[in-house]
Amino acid sequence: MSRAPRTRIGIPVQRPTSWWLEILKRRAQKMYDEKLDVSKPVEFSSEAEKQACIAFFNAAYRAEESGRSGAHKLAEEVREWDPELAECLVLYGNEEGWHRELLDEYLHHVGGQVNPMGWMVSSFYRTYGKAERMESIMLTNLMFETIGATTYRLSLRHVRQPLARQVLKILTRDESFHVPLNVHFIREILKRHPERGRRRRKLIYNVVFHSLVLMSYGSRKVAQEFDHVTPRELTTAYVENLGRLFAHESDLEFRPPKHLLRAYGITDERLAASDGPSAISVEAAEKAARREEVDVSAL
Ligand SMILES: [Fe+2]
Ligand SMILES: [Fe+2]
Repeated sequence: MSRAPRTRIGIPVQRPTSWWLEILKRRAQKMYDEKLDVSKPVEFSSEAEKQACIAFFNAAYRAEESGRSGAHKLAEEVREWDPELAECLVLYGNEEGWHRELLDEYLHHVGGQVNPMGWMVSSFYRTYGKAERMESIMLTNLMFETIGATTYRLSLRHVRQPLARQVLKILTRDESFHVPLNVHFIREILKRHPERGRRRRKLIYNVVFHSLVLMSYGSRKVAQEFDHVTPRELTTAYVENLGRLFAHESDLEFRPPKHLLRAYGITDERLAASDGPSAISVEAAEKAARREEVDVSAL
């Protein structure tokens, strides 16, 4: 058994790659059996709501697509020094690929499609696509996962359409496992490349943090009619959840931008407090590992 430090209830703080791989393999066995219920047509209260819904799920589609391709790209780089970790990345990327397929199916079912990206989103993904270093890709992925899960959970507060709720719940449930999984990826990659600059990582963390906050405002213009989440609500939740991401993992040394915390009234105490395990902990992963046992709630 591992000698890693343990939490109060006996769950190790970190797990070996073999543990993650076993879970990912188990998850892959049944993944494609889960189907969307597209037996009924989806009704919207207005054309504006329909267009906002299509915009919302287009943004989700792009995030899933970038997660999938980032993971598969990394798998190829990692394979030569850690085939087990590479396999984890492939299986993780496949989960994102499956999410992308579900979103595609949903969009077509409601009479939409995958649309070309707007300038802000496309410039963000272009920058992300240029990220060469493994830890940059993983860190960005982890932050994407966090805001994805935050957006989906907030939307569950207001969205009533059953099929949209089914999609949102599947995505939320799986992203809650992906967040701690990505932390494992980052730790493994940093172990391999301890020389890689701390300052650079912090810079990336800050740039991505600010970009995501900016994008949350952009998304309100096109999606609010569907999810009914206000700009203030969404941005506050982004700042809080991105800020909380590393609050309990001091070895990773990421500190959220103080001016943003102040602007949204988020104190260090609020970041430190939570009613469950830290979203990036092994404990959180264990809770989220078995899909059928995860209870998804609105934020
Ligand atoms: Fe996903
Ligand atoms: Fe994910």
